[in-house]
Amino acid sequence: MQVKHPSDSITTLTDVVLPGETNPLNNLFGGELLARMDRAASISARRHSRRICVTASVNHVAFNKAIPLGSVVTVESKVSRAFNTSMEIYIDVWIEDRESGNKTKANEAIYTFVAVDETGNPVPVPQIEPQTELEKQRFDAALRRKQLSLVLAGKMKPHDATELKALFV
Ligand SMILES: CC(C)(COP(=O)(O)OP(=O)(O)OC[C@H]1O[C@@H](n2cnc3c(N)ncnc32)[C@H](O)[C@@H]1OP(=O)(O)O)[C@@H](O)C(=O)NCCC(=O)NCCS
Repeated sequence: MQVKHPSDSITTLTDVVLPGETNPLNNLFGGELLARMDRAASISARRHSRRICVTASVNHVAFNKAIPLGSVVTVESKVSRAFNTSMEIYIDVWIEDRESGNKTKANEAIYTFVAVDETGNPVPVPQIEPQTELEKQRFDAALRRKQLSLVLAGKMKPHDATELKALFV
């Protein structure tokens, strides 16, 4: 299978925050942002694998900065690492200043998607080769995050999580 690059799966969704999408403080509702990130990530997974892709887990979400009503929000996602049938997708969220147009990082998240066939069975995906310094950092840390996610889901014994153990031993 052809080796791909993170840039092959870049997906950018830009949208405005409308009144029906906010919490009582008039900031973007967390669940709405999760949905936007899931949508972008699913397109990245599909672009990398050219398969049907399903969300397997949300590994990390940081709501670091509230996103006010009326903000222009850009969700950018790309595959940071491909394993056998699963892919880690890294998502960066930016808001744009109305006057200057400058973008500020608001949030980030990491999702895992699995490529499946028409009956829902996992299928292999192309491997990935990171190119930029940031892509290499995210690639290197992805195996640790996969093991943590599997341990938390009860799908891997802590004893077998070699990358996690290496952090502490
Ligand atoms: C995701 C799904 C296909 C995995 O199926 P499964 O029977 O657990 O398959 P496997 O155990 O072979 O796992 C497949 C891959 O997913 C990875 N995976 C499974 N659960 C994971 C988790 N919680 N975190 C990270 N990776 C996970 C496995 O490590 C494996 O990766 P690899 O092949 O790259 O090594 C299956 O659980 C499913 O269909 N879930 C529902 C998906 C869905 O509907 N999502 C939308 C939710 S609303």
